[in-house]
Amino acid sequence: MAAPITPAYLPEIVRPEKGLASRLIYVSPEIYELELERIFPKSWLFLGHTSQLSQPGDFLTTKMGEDPVIVVRGRDGKIRALLNSCRHRGMRVCRSDEGNTSFFRCPYHAWTYSNTGNLQGVPKYRLGYAGVFDKKDLGLREVPRVEEYRGFVFGNWDLEAVPLADWIGDFKLYFDLVFDRDTDGVEFIGGVHKWTIDTNWKIPTENFATDMYHVAYSHARPAEIGLMNPLTDEGFELSADMGFFGHQFSQPASMDNGGEEPLHSYWAMPNPYTEFLAEQRARIAEKFGDPMTRLVPGGHGVIFPNFAFLDIEMLRLVRVHHPEGPGRTTTYQWCVVDKSLPPDVKDALRRQYILTFGPSGLLEQDDGENFRECQNGAAGYIGRHLESNMMLGLGQERTAAEIVGDERAPGTGGGIWSEVNQRRWLQIWLDFMTGSHAASGSGDND
Ligand code: FES
Ligand SMILES: [Fe+2]
Repeated sequence: MAAPITPAYLPEIVRPEKGLASRLIYVSPEIYELELERIFPKSWLFLGHTSQLSQPGDFLTTKMGEDPVIVVRGRDGKIRALLNSCRHRGMRVCRSDEGNTSFFRCPYHAWTYSNTGNLQGVPKYRLGYAGVFDKKDLGLREVPRVEEYRGFVFGNWDLEAVPLADWIGDFKLYFDLVFDRDTDGVEFIGGVHKWTIDTNWKIPTENFATDMYHVAYSHARPAEIGLMNPLTDEGFELSADMGFFGHQFSQPASMDNGGEEPLHSYWAMPNPYTEFLAEQRARIAEKFGDPMTRLVPGGHGVIFPNFAFLDIEMLRLVRVHHPEGPGRTTTYQWCVVDKSLPPDVKDALRRQYILTFGPSGLLEQDDGENFRECQNGAAGYIGRHLESNMMLGLGQERTAAEIVGDERAPGTGGGIWSEVNQRRWLQIWLDFMTGSHAASGSGDND
């Protein structure tokens, strides 16, 4: 009989240092339940960007783990995250993706809350509830910790959590290279895209944390289409055709990989961004200095647990892989641009984003199939008792300082064809699941 899945048992079946993990982590309801208990209520979860919430009353809806939340700038100017669950019977009080409002009225029995979360109106309050409860005790449940870094707003249910700035930690340098490299930072444009795939939330997340390995194969196109030139397969170092700097780095609770040259071959349409990137590089070089500037565009990355980004010359995007059970994930995704760009260039980037990594984008279609079929292949009784292999580049890790050639570059990494970040991400996952990560209540903060 199989051993019961408990936190203490997990290190026996999940061994990041060996590049192996039981596929049960993608299919087991018990492990999924532990994730909901041990990871999502204790982690800083991405909520939105201040460019989406510039005016009092501006709101958007998203999720923290499985819980729906409203992120709103109240009439007092403060950004709050409120559980999107009516205190009467739990209905979602707001079903719009975004908007501006002074109140949220529950569609069921019309309990009405201010945009700061206070319960203000209850039909038949004097008649039916006289002396039974006080409205001030039944406001929308508020997420106790909401903090922002460079306009990126995160929330955490855990009052004891380390500050967001510490959670991002040394990864800030890479984060800034992606999201704060020009004069005015970034803005989110074009609203949210959402789509659901029958896959575990960790499968697309590990892809974004680490997986350059699949690009040459999953996204290969005939040369005459010209969307994606075939990538050379020269082992662990830079592929000249590709132009990436060719390395990836892992940070505490976060990951990144770096890029040196623009990826012209990705463009499906004329690329107006190229000339602006060339112009920007001078400013970026001044801000960050060489050789850090060579890490722009930055590639893909993840901040634990489920915030991911992609930064290549043709687009920048941010996404969250929301869990919806062990075998289902809904992705929320936004297009990101530098505020300093002219409007026509921003719009070209937005259209390019839709064509490639939007819900029906050419490249996202490839990956959606990968993610779903990984789940299908792992879900059967025999398949789930095999191991997922993440040994690529095992034992070949180097410091980021050595790779980049700059002492300021924190963390460790591997070649571009390496699963070093997947192993690192999984180690953090394991630490949270076993309670040994500092941010989960005990142990050393690594
Ligand atoms: S469930 Fe919201 S008012 Fe009844
Ligand atoms: Fe991909």
